[in-house]
Amino acid sequence: MDALAIRPDGIYVDATFGRGGHSELILRKLGASGRLVALDRDPDAIRSAATVIGDDPRFSIVHTSFDALEDVAVKLGIKGEIDGVLLDLGVSSPQLQDAQRGFSFMHNGPLDMRMNPDDELTAAAWLAEASQQQIKQVLSEYGEERFSGRIATAIVAQRQQMPLMTTSQLVELIERAVPRKDPGKHPATRTFQAIRIRINQELQQLSAVLEQALSILGKGGRLSVISFHSLEDRIVKRFLRDHSRVDTLPKGVPVMASQLQQPILRLVGKAVTPSREEIRENPRARSSRLRVAEKSI
Ligand SMILES: C[S@@+](CC[C@H](N)C(=O)[O-])C[C@H]1O[C@@H](n2cnc3c(N)ncnc32)[C@H](O)[C@@H]1O
Repeated sequence: MDALAIRPDGIYVDATFGRGGHSELILRKLGASGRLVALDRDPDAIRSAATVIGDDPRFSIVHTSFDALEDVAVKLGIKGEIDGVLLDLGVSSPQLQDAQRGFSFMHNGPLDMRMNPDDELTAAAWLAEASQQQIKQVLSEYGEERFSGRIATAIVAQRQQMPLMTTSQLVELIERAVPRKDPGKHPATRTFQAIRIRINQELQQLSAVLEQALSILGKGGRLSVISFHSLEDRIVKRFLRDHSRVDTLPKGVPVMASQLQQPILRLVGKAVTPSREEIRENPRARSSRLRVAEKSI
């Protein structure tokens, strides 16, 4: 909330509504003329808004992926007038807890992992179709899984006998394929993260929404992004860095500092990580990282 520096009469976008924890807090800070637009690609999140927020004339919610952020802003006539965009990335706790969604290696359920069940490709379909090389690459790039080769080989061998349909089948396969287990980390953690990122095109979505956030914010508007793993954070960090510095010119070029283009963003503080106390209260926050920037022109 501090990062967004909420003005009571401002227009804000919560692009990852989830169960509305952030939206509720934003609405509390907004006055009668403020406005909050929320997005989520998960229909369960959209349905929850009726209970969590209820009937509030300052609030509206759109069922869409956030790579349509700019279109939404244009349709609502608020492009260039937005005072803050919040992104709280990844999966929500209800998505993880619902075995039927297939996100968790802790609960047995169908290998689904779609944040939006209207999307075509499930994890089971992808694991049945992708080549061994593609599976290895996804596990290695999106999961930073050092045993990606062994797991991909095991997946392809297994599917020749019987298709992989459930999270438990995949967990058991990984447990057999991985020769050494990292202490304190379930051996399926990285593979599940990687497949989820692939199925939901999470990194492509993130790059698209960052660009669009820049074009819909007004001058002085804040962009606040909470990421949960190093792949996301790297994209956010580079994006904010690249848009907050003036291009350097080779020495001797006859250009004055004032003639250089002003950067579009100003970084607000350094990355914020949770305190020990916060992690104790909410262990799921442990890998989170908040980065904030303000649109300066
Ligand atoms: C970590 S949760 C957000 C929790 C929320 N801040 C709250 O207070 O309840 C992330 C949410 O973003 C949604 N989401 C993730 N990627 C998305 C995308 N590309 N487009 C739209 N929604 C997305 C997920 O469906 C999930 O509901």
